[in-house]
Amino acid sequence: MNFPEHLIGLRYLSKDNFEEIFDLTDYYLDFIKEKKPFKKLLAGRSVLNLFFEDSTRTRISFELAEKKSGLDTVNFNSGSSSLNKGESFLDTVKNIEAMKFDFIVVRHSVPGIPLFLKEHTSSKIINAGDGINEHPTQGLLDIYTLRKTFGDVKDLNVCIVGDISHSRVALSNIFGLKTLGANVSVCGPVSFIPRNIEGLGVKVYYDINDAVRENDALNILRVQMERNAGSNMTSQKEFNRFYGINLNKIKQNKKIKILHPGPMNINVEIDAETAASENSLIFDQVTNGLSLKCALFNLMK
Ligand code: CP
Repeated sequence: MNFPEHLIGLRYLSKDNFEEIFDLTDYYLDFIKEKKPFKKLLAGRSVLNLFFEDSTRTRISFELAEKKSGLDTVNFNSGSSSLNKGESFLDTVKNIEAMKFDFIVVRHSVPGIPLFLKEHTSSKIINAGDGINEHPTQGLLDIYTLRKTFGDVKDLNVCIVGDISHSRVALSNIFGLKTLGANVSVCGPVSFIPRNIEGLGVKVYYDINDAVRENDALNILRVQMERNAGSNMTSQKEFNRFYGINLNKIKQNKKIKILHPGPMNINVEIDAETAASENSLIFDQVTNGLSLKCALFNLMK
């Protein structure tokens, strides 16, 4: 088929691209759940996990998917690299290019770094989160999880709740869900809703109770303190009171499904009971994310 050479953002994927990766994710999910051995379809190829920001889920699931696929995996740790001796980012990239990796999985706080790597290396680039821009594999696994739960995302009502302004997950979900025909909305305090977000075709809620009542699923986002989001908020306690998801709020819509990309800040945007409730898809998202990354390497090989 016609899957792109690089995964930079969900804004660049077609409906067919989504279907292709979701179908293959279905296939790999069975292998993961049943702990069946994988065919090492990418044996002999190499991948660099180039993470300049912290990660638990994304980095572990990429590394495991790489190993299951037979890739030779190298992990870069910026904290113990020669960047600390004054080497520039560009020289770091030139050295990486000299080693001829087949794939680079990159996470960086600066939007556009995956595009920069695409221009300066011959590797296939997978964006694992660039600043407040996109987090395409998270968006893919979120949408896949909704599709698996509801059968289809077309006409599904999905609301993304919380710190939309500083979130790369929000944009990837919006681009992907809109391409697939979902009704997408966002909900949060005025200070966390980007101006002109309606221009992307999304509805805005300021009252979480309306969002709970009118949607099939909520994707709950963390307040991104590392991106200075705290300055847009009076206090975590107040945010929790108005926008924190708990069993009391979701009882207004007993069938609603709850997603969260993680990491969760318990008792800020969500409480532990809701995260562990039967409404929650949070740990399904993680399993699905592993399967999706196996599918991604297979499609991009
Ligand atoms: N969802 C997500 O990107 O989590 P990590 O930061 O732990 O990878």
